[in-house]
Amino acid sequence: MKLVVTGGAGYVGSVCAARLVESGHDVVVVDDLSTGHADAVPDGCTFVEGELTEVVGPLLADGVDGVLHFAAKSLVGESMEDPHKYWQGNVVTSLRLLEAMREHRVARLVFSSTAATYGEPDSGSITENAPTRPSNTYGATKLAIDHAIASYATAYGLGGVSLRYFNVAGAHGPFGERHTTETHLIPLVLQVAFGQREHIRIFGEDWPTRDGTCVRDYIHVTDLADAHLLALENAVPGAHRVYNLGNGTGFSVREVIDACRRITGHAIPASVAQRRPGDPAELVASSAAARTDLGWQPRRTGLDEIVSDAWEFARRQHGQ
Ligand code: UFG
Repeated sequence: MKLVVTGGAGYVGSVCAARLVESGHDVVVVDDLSTGHADAVPDGCTFVEGELTEVVGPLLADGVDGVLHFAAKSLVGESMEDPHKYWQGNVVTSLRLLEAMREHRVARLVFSSTAATYGEPDSGSITENAPTRPSNTYGATKLAIDHAIASYATAYGLGGVSLRYFNVAGAHGPFGERHTTETHLIPLVLQVAFGQREHIRIFGEDWPTRDGTCVRDYIHVTDLADAHLLALENAVPGAHRVYNLGNGTGFSVREVIDACRRITGHAIPASVAQRRPGDPAELVASSAAARTDLGWQPRRTGLDEIVSDAWEFARRQHGQ
């Protein structure tokens, strides 16, 4: 298929673009490099640097089979301090993309949604039927886009799939996570192993979980990318499908730090800090629907495997 990947110079976008090229698709990456990196765009892709709403029209006019839409603002804290950036950068931009897709009759859209659309879950593993009550602006903007895609599917025949990611981690060979502002647990812990920070702060150890630290569902980025390929192939005209993507197992913050110690061989000092506002105690996905409907099978579900791939990637970044 001829595909446009927005945000293909970012973490998840670059891994998905690489998997699409590996699978024989013809891929154009669009990225404004506001948070992505030009050298993260995989070989074999055509790269168009520019603001999405400015460049996408002419690209789609060329005849495109599908769009995978990753370009977004994605920092939860920032979304609360500067919501305009998120309503504009996520919602307004995505509406323009949807309009361009309608105009040029692009049939398929795979959208990068998030577990943050659910907010604080009631209990147990989260299915797609869980109430959507986002507790931050980031999640609210992603949910708004999900709703827009649903309307475009019903009214204009778009085949849309929203994939709600839980905690994406790991790397796909040379493609991995390198945010200028890093807030995610695994890369921060690995920074301690490199001596870039003195210790990792554990945000609370009095949560109602097995060891008192928060539990999250870490999904390997390669497994996540595979789900995108399946979603693209299975997109149905006139339907909007939503799938949660996680590994189905939760790991606590302490378990993640211990895995990083095992893999890196570094002591990785940790200290206990205040709870981070807005953090739920536990977020674990039910990905039963993705497995049943798409035939998705995550293969890299062990924490050590996820951390080792992230570590390999970080070592490459440090020239090791
Ligand atoms: N944590 C620490 N110390 C740190 C960083 C994180 O203890 O220095 C903890 C957090 O409190 C949380 C866990 O590690 O319990 C994971 O935190 P991340 O920031 O890595 O990830 P989140 O679970 O907060 O965020 C993820 C996605 C977001 C999404 C959110 C809600 O990265 O995009 O889930 O679904 F919005």
